[in-house]
Amino acid sequence: MDLVLDDIGVVYRRGGYETRAVRGVSLHIRKGETLAIVGESGSGKTTIAKVAAGLQKATSGSLAWRSTPYGAPEGARGTGSRRVQMVFQHPVQSLDPLWRIRRAVQEPLWHGGASRREADARAAELITQVGLDPSVLDRYPRQISGGQAQRVAIARALIAKPEIVILDEPTASLDQTVRARILTLLAELQAGTGVGYLMITHDISSVRRLATRIAVMYHGLIVESGPASAVLDAPRHPYTRALIAAVPIADPRVPWNGAEHVARHRAGILAQAPCPVESSPCRDHGTGLHQVGSEHLVACTAAA
Ligand SMILES: Nc1ncnc2c1ncn2[C@@H]1O[C@H](COP(=O)(O)OP(=O)(O)OP(=O)(O)O)[C@@H](O)[C@H]1O
Ligand SMILES: [Mg+2]
Repeated sequence: MDLVLDDIGVVYRRGGYETRAVRGVSLHIRKGETLAIVGESGSGKTTIAKVAAGLQKATSGSLAWRSTPYGAPEGARGTGSRRVQMVFQHPVQSLDPLWRIRRAVQEPLWHGGASRREADARAAELITQVGLDPSVLDRYPRQISGGQAQRVAIARALIAKPEIVILDEPTASLDQTVRARILTLLAELQAGTGVGYLMITHDISSVRRLATRIAVMYHGLIVESGPASAVLDAPRHPYTRALIAAVPIADPRVPWNGAEHVARHRAGILAQAPCPVESSPCRDHGTGLHQVGSEHLVACTAAA
């Protein structure tokens, strides 16, 4: 079963002000694979992640489970919390400070009516699988490190055997060595369980390490998507090229085009999302995605 997002749109309305955070995004998240979403701050990555996780309603479009490759939809809104789990960017903050780790890890099992004994056994199993000592289960979040907290969050996400885990910048707050270990762990867990990942990241090296496919977001749109090798080795969109050339992007909070870009964004001048690359002849992505290779799509008429 694939989790399929079809033509998702999300509009935030606040104080008479509208933000079109996601504009007609379609994605397939497949079991056993990693789909990476990359893109600058504010491009709509977390919003699409929350929609995929069932934590936020889309303004338009639909979410469904479909068998690979093209089967009948299996219940249009069938994205229960057991089938999709989410790991957040800030591991310590995502854990309730008043709950012991055991409770946090077990919580997804409660919805399935597991007995206390089963839940204890499964928590010990998962905490060991993510490379932690079971004694961690008796601690509180403030008593563990950021790297340990992210392992706890991963154990929690996997305990109820979900089909898809959504990872929103899972290693952004961790240092290089811890980051590498978490990526190795994620790869091992995927190989062992067949879980599918939707991974949001600004870190191109984690994309190279884990991604099967890549979707590049810019201003609420997907501007390029395709197999990881095609997008990384032969990027077609000027924005994708800029992102890859900028490796490593030091601070994901700083939009790559600087203060002027932010000012224009705020002023709503980018409402039509003209090409972010000044020298590009293509000024409009409204024409949609064009196929440029096997499953390789690009929303740039100049690149197509
Ligand atoms: N709850 C909200 N209310 C109003 N606007 C929001 C809300 N959440 C996000 N936005 C706006 O929607 C747009 C997309 O935000 P989102 O958090 O999805 O981006 P992102 O790609 O995850 O960014 P980052 O890389 O900084 O995490 C931004 O313009 C943001 O300001
Ligand atoms: Mg985000």
